[in-house]
Amino acid sequence: MESLVDGYLRHIMDNVRPDRSGHVADYIPELARVDPEGYALSLCVHDGHTYSLGDSATSFTIQSVSKPLTYAMALHRHGPEAVDAKIGVEPSGEAFNEISVDDRRRPKNPMINAGAIFAASMLLPSRRDVDEADIDAAFTQILEFYSGCAGRRLEMDADVYASEKATGSRNRAIAYMLDSFGALETSPDAALDLYFRQCSIRVTTEDLAGIGATIANGGENPRTGRVMFSHEIAQRVLSVMTTCGMYDGAGDWVTSVGLPAKSGVGGGILAVLPGQLGIGVYSPRLDEHGNSVRGVETCEHLSRDLGLHMF
Ligand code: DON
Repeated sequence: MESLVDGYLRHIMDNVRPDRSGHVADYIPELARVDPEGYALSLCVHDGHTYSLGDSATSFTIQSVSKPLTYAMALHRHGPEAVDAKIGVEPSGEAFNEISVDDRRRPKNPMINAGAIFAASMLLPSRRDVDEADIDAAFTQILEFYSGCAGRRLEMDADVYASEKATGSRNRAIAYMLDSFGALETSPDAALDLYFRQCSIRVTTEDLAGIGATIANGGENPRTGRVMFSHEIAQRVLSVMTTCGMYDGAGDWVTSVGLPAKSGVGGGILAVLPGQLGIGVYSPRLDEHGNSVRGVETCEHLSRDLGLHMF
């Protein structure tokens, strides 16, 4: 017999499934090809128990949901002062791929592409002549860190990576703009390569819920007990997710859902109830901000019905 929680999650899915609005990302063929009807929802609670529903075995690329994790790694490696000197924490009110910086010529926050590419650059050696082996080494650390947060060994999708790299003119423009300001301590191409790789890591909603629960739990994965980062870093990551995670849709999101979150063009959303819960949702049709339409609706339902709004 279906448990109360499973029955409730099914009720949400039945509610949001009829919505066919929005469009699947189509800037690369691998994303355009996904089943637009795909839908999955997972919740990971404080003891690590995970409830899942829908296509929770279907993996998709993490895309921008990676940004809080790489930011956490940069904070861990360099400390908050050094990271703040390079990447702001103000919401941009602009699209995720806007070519812009603040009045100190820093990316406005780590959740938009400019800040995320910068955060990735901070994981590479601080010299210009980095080679393939340096990028491989940095990516091994990324994969190890993301996997530890998810509680499972993750892998990169080589086809998505190749396509991201082939079509990434906008991101290249951003990285070269930052480089022209003398801000990058490494090669812009290496930073881009690392960013494209991190975006191409495949996850399921169970992975996102596990990552969310790890952040909710102050850096300790509740399934494995492994400590991935400190409370201070978790607090920092949750703060920027709250103010900047849903891009220029962040104000609407905070008002209606009231949870720190991060979306990705692969159709995933990661949301966190600090101290309690990680939520992973997948549905690939996106709204005008690049956020999953049914993912946002799902989180609105959960927040309203379960009283998850933080304020
Ligand atoms: O940088 C890009 O264009 C993508 N690989 C990731 C962007 C993304 O997921 C934006 N989020 N909604």
